[in-house]
Amino acid sequence: MSDYPHLHSSCLNKLTLNPEDRIAEILKPRWIGYPLAHKTLQRFDDLLRHPKVSRMPSLMLIGNTNNGKTDLIKKFCQTHLPSNNENGEHIVAPVIYVQAPPSPNEADLYSVILSSLYERVPSASTSAKRNKTISVLKEIGLKVLCIDELHNSLAGSSIKRQQFLNALKYLGNELSISFIASGTEDLLRAVSIDNQIQNRFQPMLLPRWKLNKDFKQLLCTFESILPLKSPSNLHSTMLCKQIYNLSEGSIGELSTLLNQAAIYALRNNQECITLKTLSDCGYIAPSERNREVSIRL
Ligand SMILES: Nc1ncnc2c1ncn2[C@@H]1O[C@H](COP(=O)(O)OP(=O)(O)O)[C@@H](O)[C@H]1O
Ligand SMILES: [Mg+2]
Repeated sequence: MSDYPHLHSSCLNKLTLNPEDRIAEILKPRWIGYPLAHKTLQRFDDLLRHPKVSRMPSLMLIGNTNNGKTDLIKKFCQTHLPSNNENGEHIVAPVIYVQAPPSPNEADLYSVILSSLYERVPSASTSAKRNKTISVLKEIGLKVLCIDELHNSLAGSSIKRQQFLNALKYLGNELSISFIASGTEDLLRAVSIDNQIQNRFQPMLLPRWKLNKDFKQLLCTFESILPLKSPSNLHSTMLCKQIYNLSEGSIGELSTLLNQAAIYALRNNQECITLKTLSDCGYIAPSERNREVSIRL
């Protein structure tokens, strides 16, 4: 049994670091599994294993901003990294990730896809870009195209939006691939103009966290990877409630709050997070931030 039963074994060696180096560790990106994340990743994996059919299924990950959509999609991509193809000109990439272009422009969609594969983007017509995209995606054996923040591409006039959705349908049909798109609720509304897209994209919701058993478990996991020597018992009733109220149910806010609290503790020679740390660490809840901005404007 370790002297620090509140910590995960991977965190123990960080305790020997000085406070500033521990702070650097706290700020490194990390990914924590939780039940809905595992379920979602399973659904993503199912797409990858789906036999080629003329209408491939696709998923739409819907949630508020800062709630872990991008991290989930990137986690999926990391477990299906491209590999070298000894016999071919291109890599083998069953999954690729792109950020949706900022407006409903078909040519921009092809540009972001080709650039993500370090391919030269033809400067000629949209159809030249489309043809090159199709031929490259065939070459790499693409199965799942992840398009993050797709709601950004679907703002604007409904004609442009429809053209963009048509381009997605065309890619899907031509290549028999699935899509994983992410977006806010606006995405649900935007695709509702096209029945075919709506039918093919199953929505998966990533709702705000509730103050329940899963949230307490998430706090225990965060606690186990924050390199503080004493247990904080973040899941205890008072702390849990206060953390929930401050972070307002978003995992991004929770992560920022706990980082800020842990850093404040270390800089003040403390080895755990208490109610006082939460109130003194300078963290401002999102709704409070918005309120302050609207008062100043
Ligand atoms: N599974 C996770 N484990 C730990 N931190 C996470 C996780 N998912 C999200 N986060 C934190 O939340 C922040 C926002 O997540 P992100 O995926 O960018 O949200 P969204 O795409 O929904 O706006 C991340 O930068 C990270 O700090
Ligand atoms: Mg995102």
